[in-house]
Amino acid sequence: MRSLRPRLALPLAALGALHGSCTRAAPPPADAQEINADSAALTDAQEINTDAVAFTDSPSDTGRGYEPEPFAPTEATRRYCAGRDADAIEARITELLRALSPTQKRGLMAGAALGRTEDIWLARGIPALGIAGFRMIDGPRGVAVLPPLRATAFPTAMLRGASWDPSLEERVGVAMAVETLSAGATVLLAPTINILRHPRWGRAQETYSEDTTHMGAMAVGFVRGVQSRGVLATLKHFAANSIENTRHRVDVRMDQRTLREVYLPHFRRAIHEANAASVMSAYNKLDGLYCDNNRQLLTEILRDEWGFQGFVVSDWVLGTHGAAPAITAGLDLEMPTPLEFSMIPADITRGALTERDLDRAIRRMLRSQFCFGLDARAVTRAPEQRETIAHLTLAREVARRSIVLLKNSTVGAAPVLPLEPSRLRTVVVLGRAANVANIGDRGSSAVPASSVVTALDGLRARAEGRFDVVHIASSALDAAALATIRAASAVVIVTGSLHTDEGEATLGAGDRASLSLAAEEIVLVRAASAENPRTIVVLESGAALETAPWDAGVAALLWAGYPGSQGGHAIADVLFGAVEPSGRLPFSMAEREADLPPFDNTSDRVTYEFLQGYRHLQARAIAPRFAFGFGLSFSSVNYEAISLTSSTASASEPDNVVEATVTVRNTGARPVRETAQLYVSVTGSSITRAPRDLRAFAQVEIAPGATTTARLRFALRDLAVYDETARRMVIERTTYELRAGPDSERTPLRATLTVR
Ligand code: BGC
Repeated sequence: MRSLRPRLALPLAALGALHGSCTRAAPPPADAQEINADSAALTDAQEINTDAVAFTDSPSDTGRGYEPEPFAPTEATRRYCAGRDADAIEARITELLRALSPTQKRGLMAGAALGRTEDIWLARGIPALGIAGFRMIDGPRGVAVLPPLRATAFPTAMLRGASWDPSLEERVGVAMAVETLSAGATVLLAPTINILRHPRWGRAQETYSEDTTHMGAMAVGFVRGVQSRGVLATLKHFAANSIENTRHRVDVRMDQRTLREVYLPHFRRAIHEANAASVMSAYNKLDGLYCDNNRQLLTEILRDEWGFQGFVVSDWVLGTHGAAPAITAGLDLEMPTPLEFSMIPADITRGALTERDLDRAIRRMLRSQFCFGLDARAVTRAPEQRETIAHLTLAREVARRSIVLLKNSTVGAAPVLPLEPSRLRTVVVLGRAANVANIGDRGSSAVPASSVVTALDGLRARAEGRFDVVHIASSALDAAALATIRAASAVVIVTGSLHTDEGEATLGAGDRASLSLAAEEIVLVRAASAENPRTIVVLESGAALETAPWDAGVAALLWAGYPGSQGGHAIADVLFGAVEPSGRLPFSMAEREADLPPFDNTSDRVTYEFLQGYRHLQARAIAPRFAFGFGLSFSSVNYEAISLTSSTASASEPDNVVEATVTVRNTGARPVRETAQLYVSVTGSSITRAPRDLRAFAQVEIAPGATTTARLRFALRDLAVYDETARRMVIERTTYELRAGPDSERTPLRATLTVR
């Protein structure tokens, strides 16, 4: 049928322009300016399509006596609509389905324009009928308004993932929701929760983790925060979207176990535990079918198995493939405009689609709008609610709570960090990222901050005249530079990746070419650390880079992700010990790329293996350079004891919670914020298993010398594996070893749980 489609040919390169385009008139909207709701109205008379296929219904069709399918509310529809009269909402939707004409219906199923309208990706409503439509804006780094508007650029999600603190992430969600509303939007296109399969993935920075349990917990926190303010969150990209350069065509293959146990559980969790309002389908194919055409994904798993009651939106422009194939698979809304859904009339005419199919999609979208109260909300613009002191302070707090201390050697009598101002005369600052606004890629998640505190700015602000900060901008160090470095009290090299190295494809740099630091930066690190034993490297990047070729000679090493607009202050906070380092890696840092599964971003078809990340490394007994979950503090802890509420459980009670109490002692002289991690192993399992699977974690603060207990909980269902024969998740009746410790490699405490 594709030949029938009068498709708007859109070169990939045009996508970038679309994301940057906006029909906003020059001056930014005044504070709290009412948006003219009529501009978002869709009427029968209004032709919104670019298609040549006529669809000949008229306003008189509204009186045509159409009878929609009867709809019986369920527990799931009531849960989705919690706090509102869910059954009345369903009845109202039935009335609307009766009254709407087919043209109005298909008008509701696609966005309004290829570009943005006043910063917003618009899916029109019909205000006269109380249908608000959707007003969407990108996350997940912050609210992606277009310059000259500004918003808080938070640390990218991968760095926030390193906080291992879902409640902190919930506060980020609240702040982003406030900024979303202030931009006149009602839907935030975040969180990105695609598994980090390989650190060369260009959008690694947008997601939280290589691990489904950690990812799920962070996503639940974020979605709860966003939706607590009435903004709809969007889980994206569903599913298996972990390569950029071929994202529009790659066919990702994997067996069902891998899909169900590695790539999907966190989506389910964000739906079940946080009632995520919507889901965005991915660009790529899964098992031979584009995700928007994949009925197994969008209907059988998402709706039939998980009971999801919200709507599915396409990814932009090249994310929809046909009308009937997508709609019958479970796609409800094509964004940003009906490039493919213009085929709806033709597909109805040829019998591939019925009005009932449209009704199903519209019911889900109207449910989302009514349950989240979009129909009753005035859309206002309030730029003063973005980049507030509170939000900028939160951005700094998140960054400093998340920066990971990877190495801290003793030089002379003490560890090189924290730096002590009274002992410093000169701090030399070097590196390609030291004095640039390094807050992430230039893709759809880019956020225009008013200003960015670079690492150099942060160090200068910290100095307050107590010591000199000397910046050497060139990476080629001449004799004078080397002498300055040699004489310095400490050297801070801020290096890693820039937006030119990695990012969203089409709009940004795409996948990383390698995990190596730029060659001249390696030379710089080696030269500086050869001159000065107090050389500290702050590494900025989306996810893991190789550090083994150059980290042996450096005294201290930190991973700072892309730390957001307040990142420079946060880096200084950690270096000077204004905060105890508490970040833990949400990914493994391998010694070398060859230790990881292959990353293929050129083939049209790739196969994902069951074991990735730390599971892959542990199964092959390959020691990582820095392990998943790892991070140092300025103190030291000892894991002393573990006990379970019960050492037995019943597989027939999957919702029962297992609680492990882990006793941790702070054996050092400074306070710590420790993240206790609980991994599960099964020896003698009937199926292939990872050596260790993270199943719970909890964060505790411990005063010097004190002992505290961390409570780590998981539901028994979290132990389930996908049974290929029974075609469902089952809990193996066996003995599970629960291991607790500070990271995936060090799990000194053990307890057993027998499941009968
Ligand atoms: C990205 C999505 C984004 C959308 C709208 C696409 O290119 O893949 O993540 O939400 O654009 O900007």
